[in-house]
Amino acid sequence: MPYPEIRPRRLRRNAAVRRLVSETRVDPAELVVPMFVKEGLAEPRAIASLPGVLQHSRDSLRKAAVEAVQAGVGGIMLFGVPASRDERGSGGIDPNGILNVAIRDVVAEVGDATVVMSDLCLDEFTSHGHCGVLTPDGTVDNDATLAAYAEMAVAQAAAGVDVVGPSGMMDGQVGVVRRALDAAGHSDVAVLAYAVKYASAFYGPFRDAIESALEGDRRTYQQDPANLRESLREVALDVAEGADMVMVKPALPYLDVVSAVRAAVDVPVAAYQVSGEYAMVEAAAANGWVDRERLMLETLTSIRRAGAQIILTYWAVEAAQLLRQRY
Ligand code: PBG
Repeated sequence: MPYPEIRPRRLRRNAAVRRLVSETRVDPAELVVPMFVKEGLAEPRAIASLPGVLQHSRDSLRKAAVEAVQAGVGGIMLFGVPASRDERGSGGIDPNGILNVAIRDVVAEVGDATVVMSDLCLDEFTSHGHCGVLTPDGTVDNDATLAAYAEMAVAQAAAGVDVVGPSGMMDGQVGVVRRALDAAGHSDVAVLAYAVKYASAFYGPFRDAIESALEGDRRTYQQDPANLRESLREVALDVAEGADMVMVKPALPYLDVVSAVRAAVDVPVAAYQVSGEYAMVEAAAANGWVDRERLMLETLTSIRRAGAQIILTYWAVEAAQLLRQRY
């Protein structure tokens, strides 16, 4: 061995040294928990492909929100599952639609103790399951959809949401939402843009969670997994249109994209560890093939290390509890 002897293992000798030199820490305050609420449910219901995640009733959602606050999570992202759907997704705009009702419930319960966010997309509310309204030939009509998003944003803001998350990948959606919010007097409501969203098979369990009616796929509006440079273009557009934060989705299979986006912008970068990422680990762990807790924290640490400052994850509450014991 050459002198001086360089031995990196000195800094791995025991837990105290490893803790001292650890480059990345996941903080509960940076975790956001997605939650589903279903209209008309009396009791929460399990989602088979997302073990541990529930379709909440209005009541159980309020309790879960309090538990999330107690665990110290940074935010809650709400998704609504309506009892009925139509072609235009009007339940997303209706002030009495399930998502807007849930926003009011959660805000009333937790106030400013955490950041309340809402998915701003039509797919939960349309009978065909697409993220927008359709033209007579069945394609998603970009600009007609933008008009619906504008109304939906104002309805969510009126319900009291802190942050809206436009996730439909329509061109121009961030600008339209920003202008609509400002015009309605909601200039303090922030936009977390799903700027980079791939047409991914990792969303499978989510579509069970919202009982999606989608047939076919979203490849005419979500991105091709083969493309990285296109993501930088999407992010630049969203920042120019007024996005306060940008998100990359999914997370773990796209860490190169997270890293490139982090280097390209100065707004906070979020990543969404999506349903399929969670379900893969849960399924393997249920078989005894992997150590569930270690894998949970390893995946979150990796997403953080790649450059995501905020992570949406179905493990947020549990991970926050584990992390608090650890540090
Ligand atoms: C769209 C939306 C989806 C997800 C979040 N927002 C579904 C989709 O784009 O098909 C997926 C999240 C996940 O898989 O956990 N409203």
